[in-house]
Amino acid sequence: MRIAVGSDHGGFKLKTELLKFLKASGHRPRDFGTFSEESCDYPVFAAAAAKAVASGRFPRGVLICRTGIGMVIAANKVRGVRAAVIHDEACAVSSRKHNDSNIAVFGSRFIKPDKAKKILKIWLKTRAAGGRHRRRVSQIERIK
Ligand code: RB5
Repeated sequence: MRIAVGSDHGGFKLKTELLKFLKASGHRPRDFGTFSEESCDYPVFAAAAAKAVASGRFPRGVLICRTGIGMVIAANKVRGVRAAVIHDEACAVSSRKHNDSNIAVFGSRFIKPDKAKKILKIWLKTRAAGGRHRRRVSQIERIK
């Protein structure tokens, strides 16, 4: 799967690990930056990856900052993006089944790389449930 990946300096190390993991798992991640641990502004990278997902070129995205909060706020400004901060396996499943999330957001302060990889694997393979959940996602899409 083509996956748009981005982070700020706070998420850079975890992003590097997740990019390796995604490639080793047969996915095609594209790194939208940042490219070092030098201090930078997370909205820049959230916007780049989120726009790539909204365009349809990348069915999914992954964003990382220190808390996950800045990234999720910024990414959800882009129409068509449903970004969710994910802390555990249950959030991964629910954000896919119920919310059809298309960007997984991690807070590097709160999650270890091995756990993030485990969660990401689940998030990537879980399908949106449809039915009443699709109706609710459509309601979200109509909010102006
Ligand atoms: C950077 O220090 C930090 O603010 C950022 O990584 C993120 O946690 C913002 O929400």
